[in-house]
Amino acid sequence: MKSLFSSADFSKFPCTTMKILIQNKKETALGCDVLILPLLEGEGITSYKDINRSLNNMPDKIISSGEFNGKLSEICLIHTGGMIKPDRLFLIGLGKRSEITAEKLRQAGGKASSYLSGLKIKEIALSVKTIASLKQTPIAFLEGALLANYNFHIYKKEENHKEIKKITILTKEKLEKQIKWTEAAVSAAHFARNLVNTPSNDMTPSALVKAARSLKNVSVKVIEKNEAERLGMGAYLSVARGSNEPPKFIVITYKGKKTAPVVLVGKAITFDSGGISIKPSEGMEKMKYDMAGSAAVLGVIKAASELKMPVHIIGILPATENLPGGKAFKPGDVVKTMSGKTIEIISTDAEGRLAVADAIEYAKRFKPSAIIDIATLTGACSIAFGNEAAAMMGNDKALMKKMMDASLETYERVWQMPLFEEYKEYLKSDIADLKNVGGRPGGLITAGYFLKEFAGDTSWIHLDIAGTAWTDKDKPYIPKGATGIGVRLLLSFLR
Ligand code: BES
Ligand code: ZN
Ligand code: ZN
Repeated sequence: MKSLFSSADFSKFPCTTMKILIQNKKETALGCDVLILPLLEGEGITSYKDINRSLNNMPDKIISSGEFNGKLSEICLIHTGGMIKPDRLFLIGLGKRSEITAEKLRQAGGKASSYLSGLKIKEIALSVKTIASLKQTPIAFLEGALLANYNFHIYKKEENHKEIKKITILTKEKLEKQIKWTEAAVSAAHFARNLVNTPSNDMTPSALVKAARSLKNVSVKVIEKNEAERLGMGAYLSVARGSNEPPKFIVITYKGKKTAPVVLVGKAITFDSGGISIKPSEGMEKMKYDMAGSAAVLGVIKAASELKMPVHIIGILPATENLPGGKAFKPGDVVKTMSGKTIEIISTDAEGRLAVADAIEYAKRFKPSAIIDIATLTGACSIAFGNEAAAMMGNDKALMKKMMDASLETYERVWQMPLFEEYKEYLKSDIADLKNVGGRPGGLITAGYFLKEFAGDTSWIHLDIAGTAWTDKDKPYIPKGATGIGVRLLLSFLR
């Protein structure tokens, strides 16, 4: 059967199309469906005395009655009955003034836009008076609103377009530059979410090639199976053996500056069944998200090229499926990596590190200033962090400090794990240079240690996003499904 989107028609995919306008106008004078008024907990309607007066003190009464207190993400929708120009007011709580953070603004923005899009409202306006009194930029609120405005509907017969189409920000501040950045970053995150949400019958290694080729101002080179064999990528190719989908080793270059590149390696297992070491069937459907690292890399390059960022990025996506076909690799096999190191396969389900190891080795050809790999590498990562943080490991303290800063800025949190020398012992094989599994204890770390053996002296960071790339529950600005994790983090890191 021809699959629905075998042509991987990315033009059909939902992306941020919310148009953003800035107007320096009075709140009461703007005709719109809904005007959003962010309010602080315990501070009443003080920033909007004129609106309150025009509505015969109704907002004030709602607050003094206790119906709305301004607690974080608390909401109240008021119809204005023609007494002022906006049809409705939407009060959204920001929490206490003393406790405000950019993340809280993001969450409040997300709550506002997901609630209003649920009501099928298409055009909204935002007053930033309260936020301005906090000396915070309203951009975080906007970012949350844009990130939440996402709905993956293309596989449903009834296309359900819930997205908000336009937001007008009432301010006299010059926000254009920040808005441009935020729009590009959010649209890249949505692009990544689309790729990850797309089922693996459509999101094949070949579809990832198309996704890479859909980006502008980049060059894309695909190393096919034969060439990968010639290059000696025996670890990556062993994973591909059990599948009939041709593997594609994708190399994307965006050269915004003539310097040594930063190489971004993204795990690109378009479906991970576990192979011969097959996974339990319960929850296996989610293993389409095992290419979330590669989606993040594509998202980052898309935004970097749109923003004409002065950076040189090379993205490497060693794409393949991991299936238990008749030619599949097996536990006990020994495979040879491009680096020359041999690996004893203990579990065919520890396939990500095999593909990423060859990609890291290949990355060194470009004499990069740094290699960052991003991968849904271990179940042990979500055991350690739940859904809250990506694990970070690496061999360059200063670089990891920069990643930590980017993580605090974007709230795409990372947390460092150690790569003590003692972990080397865990990966010792009787028959080969390394084995691909170090046992259950320390499973998150030994996966990172395995990759360290290939990074060698090159500055390198490993990000395990197994716990954060997917959410089973709606979050304030991340609807359930693919999260798009890594895109905003790496963009901020590169900046
Ligand atoms: N893709 C999985 C890791 C994963 C698990 C990602 C759950 C997202 C959610 C990876 O290839 C894998 O299967 N790892 C094994 C390694 C083990 C065999 C050492 C794991 O974590 O169980
Ligand atoms: Zn696996
Ligand atoms: Zn995997």
